[in-house]
Amino acid sequence: MSGPDANRISRDSWLQDVFPEWGTWLNEEIAQHEVAPGTFAMWWLGTTGLWIKSEGGASFAVDFWAGRGRSTKQDPPFEETKDFQMTRMTGGRAFPWNLRAYPMVIDPFAVGKINDIDALFATHIHDDHICPYVAAAVLQNTDAPFVGPKLCVEKWVGWGVPRERCVEMSPGDTYKIKDTTIYAVESFDRTALITEPPSGDLRNQMPVDMDERAVNFVIQTPAGTIYDSGDSHYSNYYYKHGKDYDIDVALVSYGINPPGNMDKVPASDCLRIGENLGTKVLIPFHHDTWTNQLPDDHELAMLWEFNREHLPFSLFLWKTGARYEWPTDKDRMWYRYPQGRPFDYFTNEPNVPFKAFL
Ligand SMILES: [Fe+2]
Ligand SMILES: [Fe+2]
Repeated sequence: MSGPDANRISRDSWLQDVFPEWGTWLNEEIAQHEVAPGTFAMWWLGTTGLWIKSEGGASFAVDFWAGRGRSTKQDPPFEETKDFQMTRMTGGRAFPWNLRAYPMVIDPFAVGKINDIDALFATHIHDDHICPYVAAAVLQNTDAPFVGPKLCVEKWVGWGVPRERCVEMSPGDTYKIKDTTIYAVESFDRTALITEPPSGDLRNQMPVDMDERAVNFVIQTPAGTIYDSGDSHYSNYYYKHGKDYDIDVALVSYGINPPGNMDKVPASDCLRIGENLGTKVLIPFHHDTWTNQLPDDHELAMLWEFNREHLPFSLFLWKTGARYEWPTDKDRMWYRYPQGRPFDYFTNEPNVPFKAFL
């Protein structure tokens, strides 16, 4: 028999054949892209995952996550989830419906084989930002350091990453890769503040130290500067960060929130963050991730359009797996997946009965 044999196909072979959905396409695209002088390139790996390449050869990933959310309608026992941050925040007993909404666009286990990586960064401790699968791939296939706030380092070490491969960063710290400097600055992720550790009752307790569990990054390349706000919410302190750094491209965790809940940044606050930072371009991210937080990004476009005279920045709305190149894409608004340029159609005579078919 030629072709698929339905007697031999198994669930495991299906998983092997079909996942990750994009195979190594994006790994190859990142590896093959040559950064032109005066530019930087970044790819959206999904959620707040970014791969960034500078003109001086820096190549690194931030919040590279390859996991998933819910996979069954059955709620886990409440005893196991009572300290989950959303459960703590809402006082609800049912586990939220976080189904992963986008395909896996990159293969973490091709890192070190197809992709050289200078460092793996994490902004904070949440499971959709720091990932044991990616940690395993980077640990096993590369010599790259693991860089993030103290509790991220504790997670990596707990997963078996040697402590000497980890670098702790808190606001005020800098990390240099070739021509690129990464500054850690304050995070404003209030959800991170009610996340384990510690477990147990938080009521009437002093909150934990944000700097140990979450940071934002200012990523300065010779061509331009990126502001990565991780999962931060709105804060007036963005204004200060905008005073301290000359920001070209700012990324904000956009999404909708069910009533009685506040986790992602709504469209109006996305624009406020861009305005406070004084960024030249605002790009939302994380809105692709969860079915229960998935917005229509035309909402952000309409609100930006409405306030355009007062908002001196461009808005770029992309799709998972997209590449953004600064400053080449500065005035673009809507990303569209490439259609296969350069087209090589009509290299051969089309194989159709008559030209009338064309
Ligand atoms: Fe997140
Ligand atoms: Fe988070």
